[in-house]
Amino acid sequence: MPNPPAPAFLQLFEPDAAAVRDELVQGLLAPHAHVAPKFLYGPLGSCLFDAITLLDEYYPTRVEASILEANAAAVAEACGTARPLVDLGAGNCAKAAGLFGALQPSQYVAVDISVEFLRQSLARLQQAHPALPMLGLGMDFSRALTLPPAVLPGPRTLFYPGSSIGNFDPDEALAFLRQVHAACDGGKLLIGVDLVKDKAVLDAAYDDALGVTAAFNLNLLRNVNALLGADFDPAQWQHVAAFEPVRSRIEMHLVARSPQVVHWRGGERRFEAGERIHTENSCKYRPDDFAALLHDAGFRGTRLWTDERRWFAVFVASA
Ligand SMILES: C[S@@+](CC[C@H](N)C(=O)[O-])C[C@H]1O[C@@H](n2cnc3c(N)ncnc32)[C@H](O)[C@@H]1O
Repeated sequence: MPNPPAPAFLQLFEPDAAAVRDELVQGLLAPHAHVAPKFLYGPLGSCLFDAITLLDEYYPTRVEASILEANAAAVAEACGTARPLVDLGAGNCAKAAGLFGALQPSQYVAVDISVEFLRQSLARLQQAHPALPMLGLGMDFSRALTLPPAVLPGPRTLFYPGSSIGNFDPDEALAFLRQVHAACDGGKLLIGVDLVKDKAVLDAAYDDALGVTAAFNLNLLRNVNALLGADFDPAQWQHVAAFEPVRSRIEMHLVARSPQVVHWRGGERRFEAGERIHTENSCKYRPDDFAALLHDAGFRGTRLWTDERRWFAVFVASA
């Protein structure tokens, strides 16, 4: 038997060391220090995220996958079949792979900032689906969502699962969805959105008993150390995550356990005990509010599917 082809991979994201450094330093020196959630990912961060999805408390992955499985035929009818399927923040590519049977994509395009993890996920997937043309794109889509000519033209299905849209504030989400609208090239958006629910359920999902989410959050400091030549000691920081009802979002922070000075090449900052670094937001929506956001971004004909408890929603909308 001939070997299945290796998926094509385009490394669009050549981390611009100076720009990454500027972004990180600006955030660390801000009065309320912050680091963007994209810095949570990398070889270890992506594995820790996969571990989170197996936790009892972390319902979003399981519930979203069950909605997609239960409604695969209707979702395929709404999205159309035999189109390029572009998976934004593909991670281990498992959710998209679950849709191959229903969507019969003409090409699978997996996009992620965590380049090595994506390369390995996609290589495994290509072995399992040797006849499906696959393309990996290593890119940071928070800068710009520009797809290269190697992505087949539209109409395309843009798949944005995992409620990752919640990492953007609603204003940023609108701007991002407008870019997604253009990338659909006359096709559809298939997007997973976590819904507002009981605070105790939300808090537990982002602060599990085993401490896996804590490790995921603390690992950001290791990533910052590597990128900036910094000397954060993760043992001196504590993971904190809770639902903030006024802004309808989970806020994830790292809190200094003791007063300390953190150094990096060309700079430093003193953190007092209790001072925080804001590392992630995860906005939770009401279905009508998210449908309105899709409409403002230019999408029409929105349909949605949800689970019995209405914990999570999957939307399809036309570009
Ligand atoms: C919450 S995980 C979701 C993974 C998978 N799609 C799922 O639903 O289980 C978010 C994914 O988006 C990727 N990601 C985060 N920020 C990104 C960015 N700015 N550009 C590209 N990928 C990004 C991460 O590396 C990670 O694989």
